[in-house]
Amino acid sequence: MGKILVTGGTGYIGAHTVVELHREGYEVLIVDNLSNSNIKILDQLQLITGKRFDFVQMDLQDIKAVRQLAKLHHNITGIIHFAASKAVGESVQEPLKYYHNNLGGLLNLLTVFDKEINFVFSSSCTVYGQPDRLPVTEKDPVKSAESPYGNTKQIAEEILRDAAQANVNLNVVCLRYFNPVGAIDSALIGELPLGVPANLVPYITQSAIGKRGPIVVHGNDYDTADGSAVRDYIHVVDLAKAHVSAIKRLEKKAAKERYEIFNIGTGKGYSVLEVIAAFKKTTQQKLDYKIGPRRAGDIAKIYGDVTKAEQVLGWKAKLGIEEMMASAWKWEKYVKANPFE
Ligand code: NAD
Ligand code: WQD
Repeated sequence: MGKILVTGGTGYIGAHTVVELHREGYEVLIVDNLSNSNIKILDQLQLITGKRFDFVQMDLQDIKAVRQLAKLHHNITGIIHFAASKAVGESVQEPLKYYHNNLGGLLNLLTVFDKEINFVFSSSCTVYGQPDRLPVTEKDPVKSAESPYGNTKQIAEEILRDAAQANVNLNVVCLRYFNPVGAIDSALIGELPLGVPANLVPYITQSAIGKRGPIVVHGNDYDTADGSAVRDYIHVVDLAKAHVSAIKRLEKKAAKERYEIFNIGTGKGYSVLEVIAAFKKTTQQKLDYKIGPRRAGDIAKIYGDVTKAEQVLGWKAKLGIEEMMASAWKWEKYVKANPFE
């Protein structure tokens, strides 16, 4: 087994994936510029696995640093590329930051690692916009992006598709995540949002713990069963395991195509009000909410067809909404007791 380079490996999904790779016997090298994560995550990973992972603090936009990395670690056989900026609202205010970071880092990796390499990319269901039919499949059209962030994911997919077509040494899996939530069972790692969370589940847990006011439900007049918007929430541990499945598929050279795309979700949609109810039921916590207007750029309803991941990747989500809520809550309590700042 070769060494797997995990970019953005101290981040939320990256750190969970490092744990799963380690459990499957992989040697892991983490790189991160710590722009949206904390160095203490390495201690947390050590608490979970007993292993101090190799770590390089570097910015993937710096091609010299990427070249140096490749020179020092010539046994890298796979790259899981999480490192990116991910705040949709910020990307509207600072589009060039997003194009530079999300595409510059990718281009540098592909330029430097131009020998035999297995590449797993963090894409997003955001590429589908509001699908014409549900559940949305990988064959359904990519819609014009709602934000520069979403556009970076679409362009990155195109870059990877073209690069794989031109370079027989490059094998790519793009994973289109739906909405990742929750934390590892031990709650030693989890999502660490900067400032007021824009995402639903971190806002719920911060509100329940008293760090924020009542949650505002962004719209209850959508064409859904209860009027609130519907998403396909996926437990981050299930999501992390999908990356291991993707690396294994690439290693086995099982794919007919050198560029493949998979939806990674549960295939089931929950409305905002259903998520709030599930949180209250699972945790027995009080949670106040108010109904507010729709949030600009939001879609009404999306959930994925995950048959391809099941049949081709051999991966299926196992954890449900209760585990998602319980682990997100356990993590929020852990962060309160053990602040990271
Ligand atoms: P995160 O911010 O927790 O992790 C990303 C990590 O990348 C951070 O630790 C950050 O410091 C690092 N990073 C950013 N730019 C870098 C650079 N130039 N060089 C080195 N390190 C850099 O985010 P996450 O939620 O773990 O998301 C991981 C990936 O999954 C991202 O590509 C994101 O766009 C994608 N994604 C996330 C979601 C979600 O809702 N969390 C959904 C779909 C796709
Ligand atoms: C979920 C639902 C909100 C907060 C975003 C990105 C997407 C992907 C995942 C990276 C929506 C509602 C939220 C709140 C609310 N990221 N909500 N009150 O918008 O589906 O997806 O993260 O690729 O690209 O856009 O996730 O968690 O922000 O919202 O009512 O305080 O919860 O309106 O309907 P979203 P989310």
